[in-house]
Amino acid sequence: MSVSEGATFEVEVERILPGGFGLAHAGDRTIFVSLAAPGDVVKIKIDRLRGRIAFASILEVVKPSKFRIEPPCPYFGRCGGCDFQQLSYDAQLRLKSEIIRDCLHRIARLENPPEVSVIPSPHQWRYRARANWQVDINAGTVGYFERGTHQVCDVADCAVLGPELQQVLENVRSLLPDKLREGLTEIEAVSGEEGVALAPPLAGHSDQDVTRRIGGEAYRFGPSSFFQINHDLLEPMIATAVADACGQAALDLYGGVGLFTLPLARRFSQVTAVEANKAAANYARLNLSNAQLTNATVITARVAEWLNRIDPAENEFDFVLLDPPRTGAEPGVIEQILTLRARKISYVSCDPATLARDLKLLLEGGYELGSIAAFDIFPQTHHVETVVQLVFE
Ligand SMILES: C[S@@+](CC[C@H](N)C(=O)[O-])C[C@H]1O[C@@H](n2cnc3c(N)ncnc32)[C@H](O)[C@@H]1O
Repeated sequence: MSVSEGATFEVEVERILPGGFGLAHAGDRTIFVSLAAPGDVVKIKIDRLRGRIAFASILEVVKPSKFRIEPPCPYFGRCGGCDFQQLSYDAQLRLKSEIIRDCLHRIARLENPPEVSVIPSPHQWRYRARANWQVDINAGTVGYFERGTHQVCDVADCAVLGPELQQVLENVRSLLPDKLREGLTEIEAVSGEEGVALAPPLAGHSDQDVTRRIGGEAYRFGPSSFFQINHDLLEPMIATAVADACGQAALDLYGGVGLFTLPLARRFSQVTAVEANKAAANYARLNLSNAQLTNATVITARVAEWLNRIDPAENEFDFVLLDPPRTGAEPGVIEQILTLRARKISYVSCDPATLARDLKLLLEGGYELGSIAAFDIFPQTHHVETVVQLVFE
């Protein structure tokens, strides 16, 4: 069979890969099928080839998987946002659990990885408290990029947006076609206790910061600084990541606006947080100061650079928490963390594959796996948040 661009043929989807694609094979080619369900028999079209991998989209579901449902959103398939709506919610949770296990086995080389049940989101829809809307003034469209392109998919109702953000999306859309500024290409939106903030400010919404109270702590942040998108699961996630840790000194790497820095500052005599984004680091300082916590220092730096600068002999930490972006820890960071010889490490990750890559180094460096928990922070997408505790015996 010729697996060339544009070719169409039938395959059976074997399983779902960490990136959310369905895996299939044809001839000697590995095929990544978008928006698939495991067990689907589908007629596909090859969209592009990259090395031995062919990327394909589904033309027709010939025999649906038992996990397949009718995606409820009318933009599904065209909008580049959700890629798991074709799966029942139970199946989404189960597949995310299998993805984590698979990464721990194949990438971290754990012989017998534990079963990790993914804690469901209280809201499977309307959970997002943050969004980036793309704008095409000429076309008069506002929404998200279409799948695999930089064309704006015009979205009037996004089913994963929280009700407040959905209302503001409608307000912004009512400014079309001619009241949105020339040159505007993206709007960052965030909702908090004070309402919705937008960057740039629009439709009567300022770009001031908002507050969110989680687990007794108040966090302020703006529309452009990182804050988790689903606030419903943050309290149990923080409790799992920090667990019973306490002692003299803790290190919070990739600290953002201080989501973990504040709870750590209540448990440790001294906390050091490292965050590269200036605005986020400033919010972390503000949040600590508003909480009257004076025992934490926020350093604005890239983690790799800061770890390179410090002398491990003069910087002892009992506990290291790291929560890097999707790409995982930067090259060299895990090796540097190993030199700190902290008794406990808590790794919070939004990508099981890069988590497993980094865990392999930590396990080879002498750490043992304590517990693993997973939280469905991103329903209707393949993304999942995992929290791993490691102990140095
Ligand atoms: C997944 S977020 C976690 C933030 C925070 N722990 C939270 O949960 O809200 C990752 C954070 O790392 C920051 N970041 C990305 N690359 C970095 C780097 N090389 N060094 C330091 N911080 C970085 C980002 O600005 C972002 O705030």
